Amino acid sequence: MRVSNQDLKGLIKNKLNKAGLTEEHAEIVSEVLVFADAKGIHSHGAMRVEYYAERIAKGGINADPNFNLEKTGPSSAIFHADNGAGHVAAKFAMDEAIKMAKENGVAIIGVKKMSHSGALSYFTEHAAKQDLIGFSVCQSDPMVVPFGGAESYYGTNPLAFAAPGNDGKLISFDMATTVQAWGKILHARSKNQPIPDTWAVDVNGEPTTDPLKVHALLPIAGPKGYGLGMMVDVLSGILLGLPFGNKVSSMYHDLSEGRNLGQLHLVINPEKFSSINSFKQNISNTMSDLNAIKPASGFDQVFYPGQNLEKIEKEYEENGIEIVDDIYQYLVSDVIHNNSYDHNDPFDE
Ligand code: NAI
Repeated sequence: MRVSNQDLKGLIKNKLNKAGLTEEHAEIVSEVLVFADAKGIHSHGAMRVEYYAERIAKGGINADPNFNLEKTGPSSAIFHADNGAGHVAAKFAMDEAIKMAKENGVAIIGVKKMSHSGALSYFTEHAAKQDLIGFSVCQSDPMVVPFGGAESYYGTNPLAFAAPGNDGKLISFDMATTVQAWGKILHARSKNQPIPDTWAVDVNGEPTTDPLKVHALLPIAGPKGYGLGMMVDVLSGILLGLPFGNKVSSMYHDLSEGRNLGQLHLVINPEKFSSINSFKQNISNTMSDLNAIKPASGFDQVFYPGQNLEKIEKEYEENGIEIVDDIYQYLVSDVIHNNSYDHNDPFDE
């Protein structure tokens, strides 16, 4: 099913509003979700609406949060999110970080006690569009083994970075610290297909190709991805005095409770380090340098980070965003949710 950007946004907003979010919050969440779908990051788009609707309806996403910015220094603050919708809290906190970095050169704002905030590049690109460097990290549910371990400890702990070049072009890098997203394993289960043995481990910590035996995900590049996941957890969890490691709440456990997650935004104003014009010119130069690198066999072109999504974004702009039929049917239906996400173990079949 193909749906225009505007129509998809309207459908998502309407559903979240009916589930209990205010118009203003439903508008922001729908904007962040459509940002992801429009780039083909479907794992963090409309696919998540029913889960959010269930959590909102059950009270685990606070529809009327008491947001509060606590300034702790000229360049630092804590945004108390009161378990409101994560997308909204992270957006408001990024708006504050942008103001602070424009004034003081740098801003670090921790978002404390929030819900899931989706694709992090939405927030970092928001900063880059205002001639700033955006960096963001957040916690997610523990489902990743530490290097050498047979039990999960960290989440898929993503990190995102964006910087402005000339003519509105951005370099934008946004990734989970795991080899593959959990959604890809669910997809393999639904198709009854094996998975590569580099994605996940079974209950003994052994690599598995059977998506039904997956007990935990593997970090990217062994100890290095494990180290990055640790860094994300320290910056967005321990630094903010939040539950950390395997104490981080699960996405699927007790949807009536707030998740108490953390996210950290770092915004840097290039004007305070070199001139913004020379910075943007050099980002553009690095983009063209990368595009001019001789491609390896099997590749047509080297893309700069984020550029790989441009083709699909353009195609979706012309022909509408591709949405799975079942998700579209749910969005146009009167159903708020089907009570299908409230269980303990994400690895259950
Ligand atoms: P991915 O593996 O699809 O892409 C990672 C990065 O590599 C992207 O910046 C992409 O533009 C770049 N890239 C991919 N192919 C490329 C190519 N051929 N040339 C140049 N660059 C290329 O992303 P992943 O790890 O699946 O993450 C997807 C999304 O999930 C992200 O938006 C992330 O923020 C989100 N996420 C959110 C979580 C949360 O709790 N809020 C948890 C985990 C992930």
